[in-house]
Amino acid sequence: MSLELRRPDDWHVHLRDGAMLWAVLPATARTFARAIVMPNLRPPVASVDAALAYRSRILEALPEGIRFEPLMTAYLTDDLDPDELAKGFTQDVFRAAKLYPANATTNSAAGVSDLSKISSVLSCMESIDMPLLIHGEVTDPDVDVFDREALFIERHLKPLRQRHPRLRIVLEHITTEESAIYIRDAYQSGDERIAATITPHHLHLNRNAMFVGGLRSDFYCLPVVKRECHRRALVKAATSGLPCFFLGTDSAPHPRSGKESACGCAGIFNALHALESYAAIFEQEGALEYLEGFASEHGPRFYGLPLNTDTITLARRDQRVPSRLVPPASICCGDDALPDGELPLLFHAGETLAWTVEVNS
Ligand code: NCD
Ligand code: ZN
Repeated sequence: MSLELRRPDDWHVHLRDGAMLWAVLPATARTFARAIVMPNLRPPVASVDAALAYRSRILEALPEGIRFEPLMTAYLTDDLDPDELAKGFTQDVFRAAKLYPANATTNSAAGVSDLSKISSVLSCMESIDMPLLIHGEVTDPDVDVFDREALFIERHLKPLRQRHPRLRIVLEHITTEESAIYIRDAYQSGDERIAATITPHHLHLNRNAMFVGGLRSDFYCLPVVKRECHRRALVKAATSGLPCFFLGTDSAPHPRSGKESACGCAGIFNALHALESYAAIFEQEGALEYLEGFASEHGPRFYGLPLNTDTITLARRDQRVPSRLVPPASICCGDDALPDGELPLLFHAGETLAWTVEVNS
């Protein structure tokens, strides 16, 4: 048995830079035609020139013969000039702008310290219909880490949407029942200007995963995985067929030394088997007929981009997931190559997945 799907896109991915970019890009580009590329490099991608340079580095690292379009994003800071953002958007360099509340996650120290500081930027985005991508967590250290997303909706997202009712928003990598219900209700009440992405790992894992047999930093990401009832709510949302939910892997590779550390980095690298991982969930739910909408249609419609016309095949054939990424020899980037020991561990390492992507040329 096999499924032929319109080629999907990834609406939230970390491609990194330098040797890590060369190592991980083929995994995304093999399956996905386009991807919204996160700007949380060091230094962050906060100007049109920086985005153009980063896009060139991505295209340079692309294996020959593979078509892939990186869609660039701007990293919002307290003092980003709205004209710079508008220039990037009208020139089709920036497809969206990313709001990291300062210190919410990896490389977010330069993020926004207070939403009131960027009100002119948000008004500008609202007027030019530029999507705002939100890492939705409050950063107040007094708030329990498992409550940060749900509180963000109440404290920041609802007031923000009242101040900017025309702003197009993606609440990224949602992890809670509260977010799933908030987005669904907005859609069902006729508001098509807000949507959410859902990652494969938040569909598969609950918070127990981080503590099975010891402390497991490989299952640590932000927003952190939550209780089983939240995972269930996300599965229901992703497989509902509603256009307000779409695929965004949040694939976030870190060198091994960054994960295996006394203060391990947040991020799960899932790019290599992302579609197979989503397919497993849709199959379990008896909802495979909704996979194409989630993976290949809802995202481009939200962003106002054409649907891909080529296809991929998901064959119902077992594959065992190796533990580490093995980059093809052809993509080695000279002296700068990542030592083998630093290659990121794969999500689903050691498991057998029931689907295998075949790329149709
Ligand atoms: C991301 C990273 O490593 O850049 N980490 C993560 O856990 N998702 C940052 C982010 O998307 O929050
Ligand atoms: Zn991310």
